Amino acid sequence: MSIEWNQESREFHLRNDRVSYVLRVLENGWLGHLYFGSPLTEGRSYAHLVPGEFLGYSNRVGEPVPFEYPSGGSGDFRIPAVAIELPDGSGVLDLRYASHRTLPGKPVIPGLPSTYVEVGGEAETLEITLSDAVAQIEVRLLYTIYRDRPLIVRGARIANAGQAPLILRSAMSASLDLPDSEWQLISLSGDWARERHVVRQGLRPGRQSVSSLRGSSSAQHNPFVALARPATTEDAGEAIGICLAYSGNFLAETEVEPFGTARVRAGINPEGFSWLLEPGAEFATPEAVLAFSATGLDELSHAYHDLLRERMARGSWRDKLRPIVINNWEATYFDFDEPKLLAIATAAKEMGIEMFVLDDGWFGRRDDDSSSLGDWTVNTAKLPGGIESVARKVEALGMRFGIWIEPEMVSRRSDLFAKHPDWAIGVPSRPKTESRNQYVLDMSRPEVVDYLFDALSAILGSAPISYVKWDMNRNITEPFSPTLPAWRQGEFFHRYILGVYALYDRLTEAFPGILFESCASGGARFDAGMLAFAPQGWTSDNTDAVERLKIQWGTSMVYPLSSMAAHVSAVPNHQVGRITPLETRAAVAFFGAFGYELDPTKLSADETAEVAQQVAFYKKWRELFQRGRFHRLISPFEDDRDVTAWMTVAVDARSAVVGYYSILNRPNSGPTRLKLRGLDPATSYRVSIWTAAVGDENDESPSPIVLGGDVLMAAGLVIEGLRLSSTQGDFRARVYVLESI
Ligand code: GLA
Repeated sequence: MSIEWNQESREFHLRNDRVSYVLRVLENGWLGHLYFGSPLTEGRSYAHLVPGEFLGYSNRVGEPVPFEYPSGGSGDFRIPAVAIELPDGSGVLDLRYASHRTLPGKPVIPGLPSTYVEVGGEAETLEITLSDAVAQIEVRLLYTIYRDRPLIVRGARIANAGQAPLILRSAMSASLDLPDSEWQLISLSGDWARERHVVRQGLRPGRQSVSSLRGSSSAQHNPFVALARPATTEDAGEAIGICLAYSGNFLAETEVEPFGTARVRAGINPEGFSWLLEPGAEFATPEAVLAFSATGLDELSHAYHDLLRERMARGSWRDKLRPIVINNWEATYFDFDEPKLLAIATAAKEMGIEMFVLDDGWFGRRDDDSSSLGDWTVNTAKLPGGIESVARKVEALGMRFGIWIEPEMVSRRSDLFAKHPDWAIGVPSRPKTESRNQYVLDMSRPEVVDYLFDALSAILGSAPISYVKWDMNRNITEPFSPTLPAWRQGEFFHRYILGVYALYDRLTEAFPGILFESCASGGARFDAGMLAFAPQGWTSDNTDAVERLKIQWGTSMVYPLSSMAAHVSAVPNHQVGRITPLETRAAVAFFGAFGYELDPTKLSADETAEVAQQVAFYKKWRELFQRGRFHRLISPFEDDRDVTAWMTVAVDARSAVVGYYSILNRPNSGPTRLKLRGLDPATSYRVSIWTAAVGDENDESPSPIVLGGDVLMAAGLVIEGLRLSSTQGDFRARVYVLESI
């Protein structure tokens, strides 16, 4: 890992064995982008990559100078990285190189989640200061390179060095100019119950974007995009990723201009955003993680998985294996009392489940979703002994206890709303829009954050609580805070999310032993920023095994298995009504932070035995399921094979588990070969089929066979029997276990 400054050619070269990132101060002082990709040799100049004709705009307005942090008004008509309204109302900026320095490690971003270093020499940061002498603005661009990760972490700080206030209109975390536009844009898009489906389409002239204006990163689009060559597959070809560590309104956008170059930018959504910068003040953008792979999407994902798991997640749960959870939501919804909860916990414990999570409905007078959010005191009608009584009884069973909260919300029917109606977000002169019978609290107000910290600390400190599921169930409407002056209302959404981060920060600090799981109507705020506080998230409210194949596949583009909570639920499935075998439901949910979302007291004796075996199997391979290298093998988004397959391999490649899913059965399909990845070619593996199905004649497992890693990867694993028989039916799964011998 090195950060080189070539004084003569005025070039910066950030390099490790996986990537190079090259910048150059152009003749006139603008900061140009030369290269991001596979590592280049140190000590050389790459100035020829930007031909001299692009070194200035005189009489050549509109030509695609590759800028590092572009601004508008002086001849670049593409999407800017930064836009500022100056005291005279103009928005022309001319940012030129002023200075630079390198820092060991990585600075923190005040108030925002960020990746970090833990050991000396792990990373280095380059800070380049650009300044506009007329506007008296200083922009510090930060680039961190880790010793052995194929990525560059970027962010910007924008400071007002003048005497009059400025208005920041746009401040991207990163902008990247690419010399050609032969790329496809990959985004993770969807909606509630179908989050993060993979969408891939070619770049075309003009702009393409994904974004959110909902106050959270959203289920509709994730704050991540990748650019992949048309021929790029999971295991071959170039890909560049941009992942934003931000949980609020974001934008990720590409632009192809007439010369055929492409720009991509990502950051806080400029729509509706503004930020008043007083003299001397500085604004920090969230950070963006740029990753590069020359060998397909698989490697790009691994770069993100490793970074987010090791250097975004923090706290005592970062490195701990996650417990197997039973959550009572789909088992009871709001209709429970202590005996019912304990019956669920007792049955779950008998099957080996480790953590009981009490979901919505335990507080205030909440018997449905129409009341009590904000009143974080126990519902004594349901739980006369309080949370403490249930928690202690669950602990006495030998399980741990967790609880659901939705801090950012208030119900119209609540004591909190009666007392502080102005804490609910809205424009005073207008009606407030309700959604799920609730309003959103104004998290930009410190007194709201203080109230929530105190109320939630009281609950979390009152009982042995080991896990918190932090929900956020509606989007923000009528964005406005009466505490901000008119000219600061554009700051509202960003201040909201800073308030959320502040509360998370204080609670995780005060309760370091608690495992936090983020949630937002399922996976509507599943992003890298959240992972800094909650190392796992509820991936989706959709627990149907078939639907989950797409959701977990898409989520895995960026987020590690350990971050994806995945539960087995009852059938018919509550979101789509589909009936899938219990074995298939587990075979999908295994690949994540595993658990159950059903009433175990309602299972048959066979099902109970089957669940116990599933739990035992997950415990045996938990390390692999949470921290193995995940490889996507057959996509649920491509072709019409009705098959999905993926696998997870131990870091030392001595074991692996493969999931193969046949969605709709297909008559007369012969055996197929599934090419595996990530194994050691020289190792022999004992390959066995795992099954827990009790009394299912379809699942007569053949005896294990021994095969070399080479043949499993080059020729493939022969999948037979799954679709041969008309009795197999739909939605079948096979789990193969590979153990080195
Ligand atoms: C959201 C969550 C669910 C559940 C309910 C409770 O929809 O995603 O898992 O917690 O809220 O109201």
